[in-house]
Amino acid sequence: MMNINKVIEPIEISNIVIPNRIVFPAFQTNFATPDGFVTERLTRMYEKISKGGSGLIITGCIAVSDDGVPNTNCLRITKDEHIGPLSEFFSSIKQHGAVPAVQLIHAGRQTLSVMTGHPIVAPSPIPCPVMNETPKELDEARIKRIQDDFVNAAVRVKKAGAELIELHGAFGYLIGAFLSPYSNKRADKYGKDKTLFFTEIIERVKKNVGNTPVCCRISADEFVEGGLTLNETREFAPKLVKAGADVISVAAGTYASMNHMAPSEDMGEGVHMNLAEGIRSVVDVPVICVGNIRTLEYANRIIAENKADLVAIGRPQLADPDFFNKSINKQQISECNYCGTCLFFTIGADSIACPQNPEL
Ligand SMILES: Cc1cc2nc3c(=O)[nH]c(=O)nc-3n(C[C@H](O)[C@H](O)[C@H](O)COP(=O)(O)O)c2cc1C
Repeated sequence: MMNINKVIEPIEISNIVIPNRIVFPAFQTNFATPDGFVTERLTRMYEKISKGGSGLIITGCIAVSDDGVPNTNCLRITKDEHIGPLSEFFSSIKQHGAVPAVQLIHAGRQTLSVMTGHPIVAPSPIPCPVMNETPKELDEARIKRIQDDFVNAAVRVKKAGAELIELHGAFGYLIGAFLSPYSNKRADKYGKDKTLFFTEIIERVKKNVGNTPVCCRISADEFVEGGLTLNETREFAPKLVKAGADVISVAAGTYASMNHMAPSEDMGEGVHMNLAEGIRSVVDVPVICVGNIRTLEYANRIIAENKADLVAIGRPQLADPDFFNKSINKQQISECNYCGTCLFFTIGADSIACPQNPEL
């Protein structure tokens, strides 16, 4: 008999109640228009996922600056015109009972100027070994401009109806690049205190969005030589909470360790649970875990054993948007077989696709 008593318990975070512990994490589909607007296809995809029963749906990523888009057709929240279509998008998610949330991103050096139409930027002029384009080092004025972009984006997504705002500090994108000694070689205050770029954003976002909860996603281990490991991230995670983080989402990897961003099947179920547990033991806010979590029963065990407070399930919900409800009702699921087709940018495709879910 499948035990799912824990995973169906609601959880209160700041001013919201998430009806259960399952999260659909941020997933860059490349289904938006080239100028970052929501499309029918994107709405259809998220509507199906929200009907499927997950309590928290983190849409996006959504780029806060035009020079920070990770791909050509990523959602953007760079002007007021983006708000209207997004508010319809969020209400269609909400009408099925899920909490509509959003992830804000600046891609930093993990993009290309041919995709953004702008020079790419980073804490230090070191190219990402995968993208191979040397970024411009940000000066303090440009740092301030991008921090403003995060704040303006947060205000806009709140206006559009997002009820939780996730700041993307994972995977080596701009915030993650500042956090890491692997990519941040600065001698100024943003290099001496590598969390400063992020904590300033968190503090300012919190000041501007009232009691809307803010989640910080981090790579608790970057799995690259000279990069962040759990020792360092355990040290700085409490600083993010002090700055105002209401939730910490624990992921792993960078573009140079892509096999940890979206772990392959052979890495085993719950491959990064030790990281979530490690961070959870040093913070006093809820923690989201992720990575090869394939069944609701396994997710339930994670909650029951106090290893995390919420469980993100990505690819399995892409393969079957009804994953949660079908699991509860003991119906057959269309299972993700970790074929890698959804990782469109690694196989030269234009956008995500899934052989298990051809209607995507
Ligand atoms: C195609 C694809 C796109 C993704 N896009 C994002 C993203 O925009 N932001 C993010 O934080 N994580 C992103 N991720 C990572 C997922 O949120 C999740 O952490 C990862 O898929 C591991 O979870 P899973 O094993 O349940 O799929 C993406 C993953 C894939 C496969």
